[in-house]
Amino acid sequence: MLLRGASSILAGGSRKNFLPKSLFTQLRCSACGEIFPAHVPQTVCAACGKALVAEYDLDGAKRQLSRDEFSKREGSLWRYRELLPVMDDSMIRSLGEGWTPLLAARRLGKELGLRSLFIKEEGCNPTGSFKARGISVAVSRALELGIREIAMPSAGNAGGALAAYAARAGLKAHVFVPRDTPVVNIREIRFYGAEIYLIDGDISDCAKAMNQSDRRSSWFDMSTMKEPYRLEGKKTMGFELAEQFGWELPDVIIYPTGGGTGLIGMWKAFRELEQLGWIKGKKPRMVTVQAEGCAPIVRAFKARKKESQFWEGAQTVASGLRVPKAFADHLILEALYDSAGCAVSVSDENLLLEMRRAASLEGILFCPEGAAAVAALRQLVRERFIAAEDRVVVYNTGSGYKYAELIVPAAGNGG
Ligand SMILES: Cc1ncc(COP(=O)(O)O)c(C=O)c1O
Ligand SMILES: [Zn+2]
Repeated sequence: MLLRGASSILAGGSRKNFLPKSLFTQLRCSACGEIFPAHVPQTVCAACGKALVAEYDLDGAKRQLSRDEFSKREGSLWRYRELLPVMDDSMIRSLGEGWTPLLAARRLGKELGLRSLFIKEEGCNPTGSFKARGISVAVSRALELGIREIAMPSAGNAGGALAAYAARAGLKAHVFVPRDTPVVNIREIRFYGAEIYLIDGDISDCAKAMNQSDRRSSWFDMSTMKEPYRLEGKKTMGFELAEQFGWELPDVIIYPTGGGTGLIGMWKAFRELEQLGWIKGKKPRMVTVQAEGCAPIVRAFKARKKESQFWEGAQTVASGLRVPKAFADHLILEALYDSAGCAVSVSDENLLLEMRRAASLEGILFCPEGAAAVAALRQLVRERFIAAEDRVVVYNTGSGYKYAELIVPAAGNGG
């Protein structure tokens, strides 16, 4: 039996007669423009090796959909059903991801001299991070395409999400993580029944180990941006912001960037909303935040480059930001340039301070990556990139609870 208000997707049932169908049409290469069919598994562009992105019949959407429709739908990312790539509703595997709170941060805002500061609280997602968005969509789509075994290199949170959604879908998952990944990530991956491989090094070494495995022909590579549908799940962060702000986007978005899928996804969402005629005016300035110990995008941005260089010896407590070279770095940088945004790096010391500070000011336990975004915000206010009247959104991409080892009281504040 369904509880009143509970969605049948959450309950695991089919909604065949209730939800409208996806308007997904094809995939297009983000670099050379080559088109690829949607009905078979796809990875990267067969012509140039770059990322493929999903396209939709937006004219059809314009005719049959109104943006006001969404407010009547369920509180998960599947409310944007037409603009997601899963064709058959019965293939959707959901744990209730998305439609996360947009929290006004009045006390932190006041301290920083900002009138309209908001936190998009992604720690509320299943498996405690925004990774659930991309993985729910990608796993559902993999299931739909008949894939049975999946693998990915991960900094931790994506691996946890992959393991959980693979369990939900009955797929076999293999996750390659750095040996020093936060302990909760390692345990959750095992707990959800995935096969885990602990690798010496960072996520790039994990990708290498995965590609050199003699089992690689038996699984499908779910690496972010080498698989086209995680991006679609992450893009819903952009749809939600638009809807939560009454279809008027904020002035600045501050986003902790590793592989950059969330930032690229939001930028894609804003473009789609523009084409649909559902938003008007200027789009937000996008800000990439990285750690000083691993800041390839910041370095490339400062040099006005189109692509980044591999960051040697990457190290930071913000494990999700330890990505020495993002596969789709050209798309991250393009969004930063197009939006008149910027890229900022912060020290581990500063982000740990902000993690504690934000918890006591706002009652939000930031993950270190989200705390890095707060540290960057403070810097950008000081440098006047952000003004008092700007409407600013900081992404807390995950729950601080996943980093128990970092939740330590300040000296002299009890044990
Ligand atoms: C909590 C957290 N924040 C941010 C990131 C970076 O995300 P993206 O790959 O979308 O840049 C990660 C990636 O692992 C993460 O786990
Ligand atoms: Zn191409």
